[in-house]
Amino acid sequence: MCGIIGIVGKTPAAPRVIESLKRLEYRGYDSAGVAVHTPKGLDRRRAQGRIRELEAVLAAEPLEGQVGLGHTRWATHGAPNLRNAHPQKAGRVMLVHNGIIENFAELKAELIAAGRTFESDTDTEVVAHLIDQGLEQGLAPLAAFKAALNRLTGAYALGALIEGETQLVLGARRGSPLVVGYGDGEMFIGSDALAVGPFTNRVAYLDEGDYVAIGPTSAEIYNADGVRVQREVRTVAASAALVEKGNYRHFMEKEIHDQPDACRYTLSSYVDPIGGQARAPDAFDFTRIARIQLLACGTAYYAALIARYLFEDIAGLPTDVEVASEFRYRNPAVAPGTLAVAVSQSGETADTLAALRWCKAKGLTTAAIVNAPESTMSREVDHLWPTHAGPEVCVLSTKAFTAQLTALISLVVAAARQRGRIDAAEEKRLVQTLLEAPRLLSQVIADTEEALRPIAFEISRARDVLYLGRGPMYGLALEGALKLKEGSYIHAEGYAAGEMKHGPIALIDESTPVIIVAPSDAAFEKTRSNMSEVIARNGQVVLITDAEGLAHAPAEARTIVAPTCDPVIAPLIFAVPLQLLAYQVGLAKGADVDQPRNLAKSVTVE
Ligand code: G6P
Repeated sequence: MCGIIGIVGKTPAAPRVIESLKRLEYRGYDSAGVAVHTPKGLDRRRAQGRIRELEAVLAAEPLEGQVGLGHTRWATHGAPNLRNAHPQKAGRVMLVHNGIIENFAELKAELIAAGRTFESDTDTEVVAHLIDQGLEQGLAPLAAFKAALNRLTGAYALGALIEGETQLVLGARRGSPLVVGYGDGEMFIGSDALAVGPFTNRVAYLDEGDYVAIGPTSAEIYNADGVRVQREVRTVAASAALVEKGNYRHFMEKEIHDQPDACRYTLSSYVDPIGGQARAPDAFDFTRIARIQLLACGTAYYAALIARYLFEDIAGLPTDVEVASEFRYRNPAVAPGTLAVAVSQSGETADTLAALRWCKAKGLTTAAIVNAPESTMSREVDHLWPTHAGPEVCVLSTKAFTAQLTALISLVVAAARQRGRIDAAEEKRLVQTLLEAPRLLSQVIADTEEALRPIAFEISRARDVLYLGRGPMYGLALEGALKLKEGSYIHAEGYAAGEMKHGPIALIDESTPVIIVAPSDAAFEKTRSNMSEVIARNGQVVLITDAEGLAHAPAEARTIVAPTCDPVIAPLIFAVPLQLLAYQVGLAKGADVDQPRNLAKSVTVE
């Protein structure tokens, strides 16, 4: 987590740092800071909270100079207060860090014993002291930097400025990403291509263990062994325009409305509309594998959970799904012939990446369904299966989720056909169904956005909300509950509808809304019984269904009607009212839906 930008530029650095940090706020927003080589020496400004707080500090006390460093923080070691904000300072060094230094306690003890004093509770300050110690011992800046890196265990992306070295920014990467941006007579480092996007679209991705010294016109990159290396400079499409809000009030609202396009673009890599066929983008052969192991975190995990039902039901392909943070530490017994598939918007989530690497080390074939094409996962897997949702800025994932479902459902159809579970005619029908999804996504937004408002207003006054669903809708119930708690801070739980009587039913009373996601599929009758059980206990049922379901809905239920669709794409279409509901409840509560407290978009620490 945390976002980094470093600039050796030709124009004032501080405003550019701010511009970049605003694009990096998705990585955390507990505090922010900037350091600049000013005519009077190296200086910094920091603020607790959002980038706009830092802007206010800079307006009151500007920093003059063209070489600078910036950071937005998601706190790991040390409370999110001013003292712990980056850049951290030790002697001649100012340092920003994304990651966790695992051996910081022993290093800190050693540095204190050597007479050094600490100002913060961060692990980062330890690294600043190590570099400064090297400088004191007479090492050149780059050598002092490398000597410090050699002492660290854990994950980091680092950026450093050194007093007196006014045309130099140092950077390093191990476990957390860092890019080098090549401008016109100026150079940058940043957490990702978006960070340097306002200044250049020519970037090089550092490899694990690389470190770099940038000056006004060049980057000297070294690998972990200290050998000078070249890393390919690519032109990326991190266009600034893609991350503007347009006419929407929030990125969440915009990204919900982006979904028909995100689905359409994603389908273009997975289905052939003329031939009526589905395929992985690299034409992966699903007859080569015996099982699938899906690995993911957060919303992406729920997409994987839904896909499991479809892989087993439609393609007859045994599929396991697990949150990556559990999988990576429990020594799982994975069967030979298993394809490990990570699902991740960012392609950087630390637990998902570690689980993927574990599978790779065990000799499994790996694949990743990733929205960020230049991410670490994209570069490390055997098979990259991209989604094309475009940059997702709101911390609450919406369009990335439905793009993941689009890719996963397409892969299910491809696997089913290759494995002889469906014939060409059924494949063609399912492909046609998938091709209708973008239109139905537009329709479900149009049909439900207004109808949800009064319900959202009522839910905004609830203390607890339950979400129930069966089959693939179970995953949606979990996702709906996650969206509501993130977006509005209302306690919400998702349950398999059949589990309600094993506990959650105790919570039902007239003040507990129960959101039931139930298209008129094979499970509808069973779920209808659960609705009756809730209603019998004075629970407030909100049923999200289709026209056929509406005809069979209990009279006491409030209903939201989504377009009728084939069950295979129902998870995609029914996700939308749940997203809209969370958004509207968040608005009614006055919550910061794009950047809820304590969360971050990309979780690059465990
Ligand atoms: C964080 C985000 C979620 C996301 C999860 C996994 O928790 O707030 O929106 O679902 O990480 O992220 P990934 O980038 O791997 O999909």
